[in-house]
Amino acid sequence: MNIQKIMVIGAGQMGSGIAQVCAMAGFQVILHDMKQDIAEKGLSFIQKQLQRQVEKGKLSEQDKVKTLQRLTPSASIEDAKEVDFIIEAVIEKMEVKTSLFKQLDTLAPEQVILATNTSSLPITEIAAATNRPDRVIGMHFMNPVPVMKLVEIIRGLATSDEVYQQIEDLTKKLNKTPVEVKDFPGFVSNRILMPMINEAIFTVYEGVAEPEAVDEVMKLGMNHPMGPLTLADFIGLDTCLYIMETLHEGFGDDKYRPCPLLRKYVKAGWLGKKSGRGFYQYS
Ligand code: NAI
Repeated sequence: MNIQKIMVIGAGQMGSGIAQVCAMAGFQVILHDMKQDIAEKGLSFIQKQLQRQVEKGKLSEQDKVKTLQRLTPSASIEDAKEVDFIIEAVIEKMEVKTSLFKQLDTLAPEQVILATNTSSLPITEIAAATNRPDRVIGMHFMNPVPVMKLVEIIRGLATSDEVYQQIEDLTKKLNKTPVEVKDFPGFVSNRILMPMINEAIFTVYEGVAEPEAVDEVMKLGMNHPMGPLTLADFIGLDTCLYIMETLHEGFGDDKYRPCPLLRKYVKAGWLGKKSGRGFYQYS
């Protein structure tokens, strides 16, 4: 199918990044969220990102304007009727994703591929909420989307070869590098990354070291560009918790048990950079 118009659902940090790269690659994009003001906030975030690129001399003013013209913020889910491809980037909760996919399945034309940017949830289960499991696929972008080259592509049990190929081609058109992985909790990226972040939180919880010290050890000692707790704040502590819960439930092993301190921070509303406070404070 010829993809020209894309709908991105969820205008948070990932959805707005995905919408930005799609628009920069020449696609028409509807950036959808539950409320119009959230969708518009996503768009103004993109505007700022593009302006920064212009100031750095990496993007022309004309390309910025053209990119913005391709983006439409929306709060109407009915827009799903008018698009050629849909990618979802809402909260990392299975019940939210399955109810959304059920709804999208009734609205989107039957040939439309429904992709999810989930970081850990089973694609097969999300696909089973629809009547088109062959046309559901995982397309896992990394944060920040405009900068990071990788997209993990995850087939559900029923995803067709044709759909896989179309999504691999689309990923390349977005200037990203696709890597195919199997549908297991956390895929590859978060199965490896998230237990490390969780362990870093345990070292703080057990009083082994302060957050600054943990991050310094991993940066200077292991050559990581960013410490694990800074990275956790950046990803969102709620998202980190949901991913650990998925790993714990999916593999059943105690080594995936979310650290109680992570739970406590999320309950307190300390979600990291996006809420202004996590392991660090942000103005
Ligand atoms: P976020 O909290 O920044 O944004 C989520 C957005 O979804 C919010 O704007 C919210 O209003 C919207 N939303 C929630 N339910 C909705 C619904 N039913 N319909 C429409 N919009 C809805 O979260 P973030 O970080 O953008 O994560 C989104 C997804 O991307 C999650 O599945 C997460 O696991 C995944 N992801 C996150 C990464 C990260 O580093 N934060 C990296 C890769 C994937």
